Parts: sequence; structure tokens; C-alpha cells
Amino acid sequence: MAVSSKAKGDSSYISGRESRRITKFNRKITRKLENERANANKDPKLYTTHMKDPNNVVEFDNVCTYFFTDVGTVKSVDGVSFNIPKHSTVGVVGESGCGKSVTSLSLMQLLQRPSGQVVGGQIRFNTGNGEAIDIVNAPNKIMETIRGNRISMIFQEPMTALNPVFKIGEQVDEATELHNPDMSKEDIKKRTLEMLDLVGIANKEGVYEMYPHELSGGMRQRVCIAIALACSPTLIIADEPTTALDVTIQAQILDLLQSLKDKMDSSIMLITHDLGVVAGMADYVVVMYAGRIIERGTADEIFHRPAHPYTIGLMKSKPVIGRKVEKLYNIPGSVPNPVNMPNYCYFRDRCEMQCEHCSGDYPPEIQIGETHIVSCYRFLDEGEIVGHPQSVDVEKLLSGD
Ligand SMILES: Nc1ncnc2c1ncn2[C@@H]1O[C@H](COP(=O)(O)OP(=O)(O)O)[C@@H](O)[C@H]1O
Ligand code: SF4
Ligand SMILES: [Mg+2]
Repeated sequence: MAVSSKAKGDSSYISGRESRRITKFNRKITRKLENERANANKDPKLYTTHMKDPNNVVEFDNVCTYFFTDVGTVKSVDGVSFNIPKHSTVGVVGESGCGKSVTSLSLMQLLQRPSGQVVGGQIRFNTGNGEAIDIVNAPNKIMETIRGNRISMIFQEPMTALNPVFKIGEQVDEATELHNPDMSKEDIKKRTLEMLDLVGIANKEGVYEMYPHELSGGMRQRVCIAIALACSPTLIIADEPTTALDVTIQAQILDLLQSLKDKMDSSIMLITHDLGVVAGMADYVVVMYAGRIIERGTADEIFHRPAHPYTIGLMKSKPVIGRKVEKLYNIPGSVPNPVNMPNYCYFRDRCEMQCEHCSGDYPPEIQIGETHIVSCYRFLDEGEIVGHPQSVDVEKLLSGD
């Protein structure tokens, strides 16, 4: 990047020339990617595939989701691979901005396009009939049958997720009606009342006629859960579902989600920055850092044998009942600049456990237990290398090499 002497030292400074180059590049690459998507959409062979393991609902395979912004390419999700097995809860944890929501938005094809694009990898969704859909290339007409129907989403802020000018009943009805156009009005209302009952709303007939502002935060989130479950989805994505709620209500909502998951035979992708939330609920845990997965495994492996220095730091910074500490642990330093990620371990500049290999390339994925995988050089001699998260070279992508 050309930097004038005046601006030297200011890493956020971009010259006019550089800015024009970025804008031109973004225009070209997003046009190319949109064209490729449109072509892939037309041919079912390009978006139908097979699951690697039919017991999974979703398989993320080296997914790269980038945003082409005015300051450069933000690699929000960069080579992410993990599975969501049937009937299980997978917790995705990491600090704010590490790519959790972008991962779920890529799965729902709800990225802000054209600036946000999945530039590499596959997201396989199990259709249940022996085939899978690659969400990355799936056309809208396929996505409309999946989104809200087979995969549904619960957001952090129930007040913004609900429409303030429609009654609760109408909003839950709409979710059922959209995916069951042949259902009669009476049956739809009956189903809505059943759903309100299922999510623990006692006065279901009364709530059916109410507007969102007449309900408490916890009740609104229950309504959002009812909407998400209206079509008995195979996967529920819950993105920080309890962050906006009082602590006492948080536990109730998590218990509710867990019991509904079992009743409906669904899986849950539980996204949170709070390790405490996943501790009691998740079967598997995926820890993200700066757009990559740095450790994954069963909840037992992650909570009882955390291996990556970042996961260990997260555990230490979590208050534990009965453990006396002067001050909670604070991971020093900050996440690298997302536009210009280093070519070595992204955690190195904050890491207190560096070894002789850490000056090398980004660490590979090392298997240290049956389902326990960590990206850290400290385990080079203890486990087997099972993969390398792959970035996409966007300059090469544009030139077609
Ligand atoms: N629409 C967007 N345009 C540009 N950058 C974005 C956009 N959405 C998300 N990002 C960037 O992607 C990264 C990951 O964001 P996100 O997945 O929302 O984080 P979180 O883990 O908190 O859910 C962040 O650095 C964020 O700035
Ligand atoms: S690879 Fe090295 S620098 Fe990175 S987390 Fe592991 S020990 Fe720390
Ligand atoms: Mg988020």
C-alpha cells in the first residue's frame, strides 16, 4: 500500500490511488462471482452433492466467506470446516467479530450481497433422501424451501425480529402458511396455538391477539422460538438467543430450546460469545478466532481438556462458582486487523505459550483425541495432522488461474 510520509504509522490510512484500486477490484470480482453463481444456479449438478457422513445435517467444508469492502477484503470466515450431526447441539463460541454470525448467514444464504460472498468451499445440507444440497451454489427457489422450513433461525433481539405492527398470532400463522400453502386458516391457527403452548406461553389465546410491545423480553423470545419451530425444522440456528435477556430468563430459554430440540428431533447450532451458555447445553463445541476454527471437539473435550491457548484463556476468564480469584483473567492484546491477516498463527501476538515452531506458517489442524482437533504447534508431536485451513487468493480468483 502506498503511504505518504504524513500518514506513515497510521495503518488505517489508504491513499486515493489505493482506494480507487480497491473499488475497481471489488467491482470486478463481485461481478465475476455473481455471474458464476447465476450459472451454477441453473444446473442442478452444480449444487446437488452427497454428505460425507449421512448422520450429519450440515457439513461445512473449508468455507471461505469474504466481504469486499472499501478498505479491502475482509476474510470474515476463512477455511472453516465442521459438522452438525443429527439430533445434536453444536456450540459455536468465540469473541465478538470472530465470524460466528457470518458462518450462519452463509448457511442460510443471507449474506449482504454483492459485497459479501462465499468464495470457496462447500456447505452441504442433508436433504434426507440420500442427497445433499450445496448451499453455496443453490438457487433461490431451493433456498426458499430450506430457509425457515428445514433450517430456521432465532436471533439475539426478539423485539427487532418481530414486526411491531402485526399481532403475535398473525406472525406465527404466517410462518406456517408460507411453507404449507394448502393448510386451512383454522388448522393454521390451531397449529399456532399448539406452538405457543409448546414454548410455555400459558395464556396462548390472549397472546395470539397481542402485539409484540405488550410482551416481556422473555415472552417475545418464546414467540420467536415458536415461529422458528412452526415448520419442525431439522436445524435451528440460535444466534446469541439469550444475550438480550435477563440472567434469570436466560436459563429458562436455554432449557426450553433443549427440550424442544429433543421433542422435535432437530439439531441446534448455538452461537454465543458466552462459554457458560454452551457448557450446559452443547454436545460439540467449535471455538472460532479471527475467522478460523482454532479448536473443536465434544463439550467434554473442550471443557475438561482445552488445548489451544485461546480456549484455555477463555476458560480462565470465565467466573466459576466456588473458585476464589483476585481478578478474572484477561487475554492480553487484540485480534489482528481482518483486512491484513498475518501468515503465521493469528493468536501468536497474544500467546503466552509459544514454542519453536510458532514463527512458521499458520498451524495445521492436529487431531489429539477421537473428535478433538486443535490448530496449535504445541501438539505437533502429540497428534496427527488432519488438515490445513485454506484461504482463497482473490487476486488469482479474478484472473482465473
Ligand atoms: N456486511 C458486512 N460488511 C463488511 N464486513 C462485515 C459485514 N458483516 C460482518 N463483517 C465482518 O465480519 C467479521 C465477522 O463478523 P460476525 O460474524 O458478525 O462476528 P460475530 O462472531 O460477532 O458474530 C467482522 O470482522 C465483521 O466486521
Ligand atoms: S501455534 Fe504457537 S503461537 Fe499459536 S496458539 Fe499455539 S503456541 Fe500459541
Ligand atoms: Mg454475531
